[in-house]
This record gives sequence, structure tokens and C-alpha cells, in this order.
Amino acid sequence: MENIIKTYETEEIAVTWKPSLCSHSTKCWNGLSEVFNPRLKPWVDLTKSDADRIMKQIDLCPSAALSYVKKSAQNTTENQTESTEETIVEIVPNGPVLVYGNITVKDTAGNLTSKNKVSAFCRCGASSNKPYCDGTHRKIDFKDPQ
Ligand code: FES
Repeated sequence: MENIIKTYETEEIAVTWKPSLCSHSTKCWNGLSEVFNPRLKPWVDLTKSDADRIMKQIDLCPSAALSYVKKSAQNTTENQTESTEETIVEIVPNGPVLVYGNITVKDTAGNLTSKNKVSAFCRCGASSNKPYCDGTHRKIDFKDPQ
């Protein structure tokens, strides 16, 4: 289960779940089981409640295994060429850099790749799929500098 990152989206919100961080506190489904139900697959269904209620529940997650990005209201219009979504960069302790939002990645050959939702970039230097994280940081027991 380590290194798995799942993303769930609606027009209003993008929710990311990192099971390797989950401490099984049950706070996510206690109080909002219609959205977070571990008996169903997928276990997250963002259509069952509104974004504000979902964000409030995720704020209770003590491990940060669940996180969210609220999308800009303007981004739900037809004008998708100019993204107004906020880009968020998150450092995963002893792991990759997560970038939420629409970005363009230019590789060493100059090729451009558009990414949306969430992208995980290697921070340990050992990935075989650079610039992306491939989970090798766990195998090499990468630790943040103290
Ligand atoms: S941070 Fe994951 S492979 Fe380097």
C-alpha cells in the first residue's frame, strides 16, 4: 500500500488520499460516512456531500493522509485554457514533493507534458522515473535532513 496516492475530484474540490500516512483514526467516516466509506470501492465518493462539508471533515484527519485543494470558482467556466486554479506544493515527510494543480513539466529533452490533479516529484534522487517519484524513497529509507 505504500506510495499509493489516490485523487478524487469534483468541479469544486480535489481530494488526495495517501494510504501510507493513514493512522486509521476513523475520523474521516465518523460523521461523514456517506462520503468516506471503507466498505465501498472506491471508498471516497465526493458526490455525496458538498465541498465545504467534505473539507471540514478532512480537517479532522490527524495523519494528513487525506488532504484537499479547493478549486477556484472561475475554473469551472468554459475557459479551461487559462487555469485560475491555485497550485499547491506539498513536501511529504521523507518522500516526494506533491504538486496539486495544472502544471507543464519539461523533461531534459525539452518535451512538455501537461499534468493536472496531483503530481509526485522525486526528492530523494533515486527514482528510476525522474522527475517523478516511483516509490524508491521507501526502499532506500530516504530521510529528510534534520
Ligand atoms: S522521492 Fe520517491 S523515489 Fe525519490
